[in-house]
Amino acid sequence: MKHDFNFNNELSGKIALVTGGTKGSGKAIAERLLAAGATVIITARNFPDEPNEKLHFIAADLTIPLGTKKVVKEVLTKFDTLDILVNNLGGSEAKGGGFSVLNDEDWLQTLQSNLLAPVRLDRGFLPQMIAQKRGVIIHIASIQGKLPLYDSTLPYAAAKAGLINYSKGLSNEVASKGIRVLTVSPGWINTKASKAMMERIAESSNTTIEQATQSVMDALGGIPIGRPAEPEEIAEFVGFLVSPRANYLSGTEFVIDGGTIPTV
Ligand SMILES: NC(=O)c1ccc[n+]([C@@H]2O[C@H](COP(=O)([O-])OP(=O)(O)OC[C@H]3O[C@@H](n4cnc5c(N)ncnc54)[C@H](OP(=O)(O)O)[C@@H]3O)[C@@H](O)[C@H]2O)c1
Repeated sequence: MKHDFNFNNELSGKIALVTGGTKGSGKAIAERLLAAGATVIITARNFPDEPNEKLHFIAADLTIPLGTKKVVKEVLTKFDTLDILVNNLGGSEAKGGGFSVLNDEDWLQTLQSNLLAPVRLDRGFLPQMIAQKRGVIIHIASIQGKLPLYDSTLPYAAAKAGLINYSKGLSNEVASKGIRVLTVSPGWINTKASKAMMERIAESSNTTIEQATQSVMDALGGIPIGRPAEPEEIAEFVGFLVSPRANYLSGTEFVIDGGTIPTV
């Protein structure tokens, strides 16, 4: 079978939703899909600090079911359809200090944003994607799904491991219906959120930010490429995965970590 790929405007006519699309890698992914010609909707709780008027913004807290309902309703009412769903929202705000300082609330909060928010959104949009027999769902996980850090991010690591497993199972169910489900697991990304995490670890362990950064680097075993990823590097890869160039990719987890995970 011969394919004529046109990399310019390859997402023209597609409707895409990027959760957590106002900051960090979500913002970079939204801008990358926009540059490829898609109509892009972004969600977050707060209006973006640096708004891009070409992106459609929906305010919603996706850690509660009502937020998901709002987003699904607004997208399908305004755009009739959804072709690409990038579940990018996630992160960890848990305090440092190991298992004993984390309570149920910390665990539930982290599970809501990293696992249950994507599960609910997928459930909201899949009926429509199945009816149109096409769609791509991306789950942004983390290398912590395989390489848990115990200090402050154990709930996060467990939630991302759940997300990776769920993503594979969902793919098995819907691939034959024309939907591709994929997971992207980044290593360290150079965002404001990852800098804030170092500040929290430094504060709770009474060290400097440099020492906290080094302790996380050590726990990861170092980054062979020698630096964290830039958000645009994650976005470039997601731009490829949602494009027709990746039409035969389904049910796979892709690690993008500068070589951090030490095993094959
Ligand atoms: N940064 C890293 O080093 C790293 C490494 C591996 C994986 N990842 C993963 O990559 C993804 C993006 O991370 P990031 O660091 O780029 O994110 P980020 O900069 O912290 O941005 C998070 C985004 O999510 C929104 N958000 C937060 N809580 C929300 C809620 N309850 N409901 C709706 N939206 C909410 C934020 O806007 P509002 O605050 O206005 O709601 C913002 O747009 C996450 O899944 C993360 O786990 C990140």
